[in-house]
Amino acid sequence: MSGFERGAIVLLHEGGRTLRCAISLVDAPLPALEEATRDILGPEEESLLTDRLAPARRQSLLAGRRAAKNALCLLAPGVPARDISVLPGLLQQPVACVPGRSNLQVTLAHAGTAAMAVAHPEACPMGIDLERAAPEQQSALIEQTTPRERALAQTVLPYDEHQRLLLLWCLKEALSKALRCGLTVPFSLLEIASLAPLPGGVRARFENFTQYEGVAFCAPPLSAALVMPHTVRWESAGGAASPQMLHDWLREIVALHHHRSG
Ligand SMILES: CC(C)(COP(=O)(O)OP(=O)(O)OC[C@H]1O[C@@H](n2cnc3c(N)ncnc32)[C@H](O)[C@@H]1OP(=O)(O)O)[C@@H](O)C(=O)NCCC(=O)NCCS
Repeated sequence: MSGFERGAIVLLHEGGRTLRCAISLVDAPLPALEEATRDILGPEEESLLTDRLAPARRQSLLAGRRAAKNALCLLAPGVPARDISVLPGLLQQPVACVPGRSNLQVTLAHAGTAAMAVAHPEACPMGIDLERAAPEQQSALIEQTTPRERALAQTVLPYDEHQRLLLLWCLKEALSKALRCGLTVPFSLLEIASLAPLPGGVRARFENFTQYEGVAFCAPPLSAALVMPHTVRWESAGGAASPQMLHDWLREIVALHHHRSG
């Protein structure tokens, strides 16, 4: 398939044990995804791709499934992508079924032509979000934050107000996916308690869900967040203690878009 595809396995250390998760980021136009449909979707998933779907939904469904399969295949090498299914559960959450592996799940998000997924063991609940700046949503974003959150973000993040709000939103949506409730709960429940700077982003803790920690990265106009139990210590390639490559990948996509439009 032509398009941008990156993936990596990350080690998750907790107490005395080590688990593994895999991150995938995909950016591809709809025709390239449509062409690869038979490589991406298994028979059950094909029924989700009906002719009634708007192009934007076909794009998000295919890009999201592609990223999900890429990530799951990294953790289950040798299993063909078409033999893996990622179907909506009763809460619309993605439910992965990987032949021979009973304990793998996936969390995914899409924004425009891009999609991101993290495959993870069920033992380590995770949630992600990926957003593209949309200045027309500024007032909605302000409404869903407290003055304290906005002040925290202003202290820590060297970005304009819209990107800061977007990053706060990403962290909360990623938490809502880790919890499997989605954004059906009052935003105040998902409140951010603290933010600490990371290169290209932040590390966050939550007011009401102290079990979790989030990391979020910003490569304007894109922002992405990943939430996991706070006791987990990350180890990406080269020993990095955060999924820093995500920031690099986001920047690559932004550069690619500039190149295409310029
Ligand atoms: C889940 C939710 C936060 C996603 O927000 P979004 O900005 O529209 O979309 P994103 O690209 O960030 O994420 C979409 C993905 O989240 C995942 N998702 C959906 N519901 C989820 C849940 N309850 N828990 C975890 N993940 C969920 C899905 O994988 C979905 O992608 P897919 O439909 O292609 O499989 C939002 O749709 C929501 O709050 N839904 C709950 C309300 C609901 O159930 N609506 C039903 C629609 S009629």
